[in-house]
This record gives sequence, structure tokens and C-alpha cells, in this order.
Amino acid sequence: MTSPELDDDGYAALTEKITRERSFGCASYKEKCVRRRIAVRMRARGVHTFEEYGRVLDRDRHEYDLLLDALTINVTKFFRNPETFAAIGREIVPALYARVEPQLRIWSAGCASGEEPYSLAMLMHRYAVAQGKRFDRVDVLGTDVDRASLAAAERAVYLESTLADTPAELRQMYFPMQAPYRIPHDVHARVEFRRHDLLREPFPESQHLIVCRNVIIYFDRTTQEELFQKFAAALLPGGFLVLGRVETLFGPARPMFTPVDNRERLFRRT
Ligand SMILES: C[S@@+](CC[C@H](N)C(=O)[O-])C[C@H]1O[C@@H](n2cnc3c(N)ncnc32)[C@H](O)[C@@H]1O
Repeated sequence: MTSPELDDDGYAALTEKITRERSFGCASYKEKCVRRRIAVRMRARGVHTFEEYGRVLDRDRHEYDLLLDALTINVTKFFRNPETFAAIGREIVPALYARVEPQLRIWSAGCASGEEPYSLAMLMHRYAVAQGKRFDRVDVLGTDVDRASLAAAERAVYLESTLADTPAELRQMYFPMQAPYRIPHDVHARVEFRRHDLLREPFPESQHLIVCRNVIIYFDRTTQEELFQKFAAALLPGGFLVLGRVETLFGPARPMFTPVDNRERLFRRT
């Protein structure tokens, strides 16, 4: 029996199977990361080889869902990394409302269970209320490859733990009630969700702001470069890209952007 760490053929066969049967493009993700996640599921099922685990997947569709859950890593929070949202509120929100186009398109790519796109909508809403602007100019799109996460995003009912990073002022404005929390109607009405695979599908066009945080780190370098180029093409001139603290912008797309905030990785499309 070959141990999984040494079994490259077994790994290739299993990941091809997953890609074929569940349209999950394992090859574009960092191999170390995928191997680690598969190993966790194998341990949970008490199996020792990739081949054996492939047979478990054939027998048990629920295990397939658990594996995809493990591979997609859906952790998120409202206003996760509040400093990034503070920078968006300061540097981007007023610039968006100053645009001449009637509708403002904001895309949260890899939005998991929806906390990020709702947080963005709240920032836009707060500014609209304070400045007497029209909030119905705002269209926020949240996309993710994981259907279960999107179903939670659409349900829009949240527990206390997802509010841990929310600044007190925003908490008072948007979550004044007790848990479970619901998104206020006017904010909810401007946010839409759609399943979208960043690796396989065309990108939404003419965006004013794209936020893609804690997603790209899981992809290999070549894929990351390709995604940056696609983000550049999806943005209107003067539109913004927010990568957040853990990702870096590099490759052929880099000269297409001017940094707006180096620490929070806010960029403006030139
Ligand atoms: C850690 S969460 C990030 C959530 C949010 N952006 C944040 O920073 O809190 C990563 C998300 O990326 C999604 N994801 C992974 N691969 C993807 C792909 N190929 N296309 C779209 N979303 C993907 C996962 O399903 C997961 O919900």
C-alpha cells in the first residue's frame, strides 16, 4: 500500500475524478492545500489510500458534499478585517457615488455565505443615508462556486459569531435586534447571489468595484495571474479592486492598476 504522501498517481486519479464528476477544477488550486483537505476527509472516514477514498465517494454522495465543503473553505464574517472595510468606506465609497453612471455595480467574488456582499451594501447604504444619495443606484452581486454557501447567503439569517468583527456603530445601525440576525430589507433588496466559478465562467462586465478576498490564495500562481487579468478586464476605467491583506497583485495585470491603499491592498484600474 502506497502512503498518500507518495502516491502521486493516486492523487492525480482522485483529483481528475472530482473535477470530472463535480466540476471542481482541483488542478488550479495549490496542491499542498488540496492534499491537506483530502487527507482530513480520509482520516475522518478511516481510509488510508486515495483509491479507497475514491470508492467511498462512489458509495456515499454525502461524503462528496463534505469533501467539497472542505475544499472550498467557506469561513467568513461581516466586516471581516474591519480596517479593510474602513479603507473601502474612506477611499472607495465616495468615489463610487461621484460616478456619472446611473447604476453602480459591485461584485464580491467568492462571497461564501454572503457576509461580505451584505457588508459592502451596508457601507454604501450608510453613505447614501448620510449624504442624501440614492441607494437604489447600488447593485451588489455575490458569487461563489459553493451552492450550500449561496443557499445560506440567500436565507440571510445569521448567528452572533458572524458579527464578531462588526464595528459598534454599524452593528447598532444594521443589527439592533437579538440573534438570529436578519439583513434589513432595504440592504437585502440591493444584493443578489449567483453561482459562479472563477476558474471556468466568464466574468460579469463593467464593474465599478470588485472585492475578492481570501479566495485567490488557494490558487496556483499562474491561475492567480490569469484571474488578475480578468478582474482588470471586468472593471470600468477608474473602478476599484480590493484584495485585502493576504493577497498580492502581481504579473501582467499589475501595471493596469494604481495602488490606493498598500496595506489593505486597494487598487484603482487605470
Ligand atoms: C474563505 S472564503 C472567503 C469569503 C470572503 N470573501 C471573505 O473574505 O470573508 C473562500 C470562498 O471562495 C470560494 N471559492 C473557492 N474556489 C472558487 C471558485 N473557483 N470560484 C468561486 N468561488 C470559489 C469558496 O467556496 C469560499 O466560499
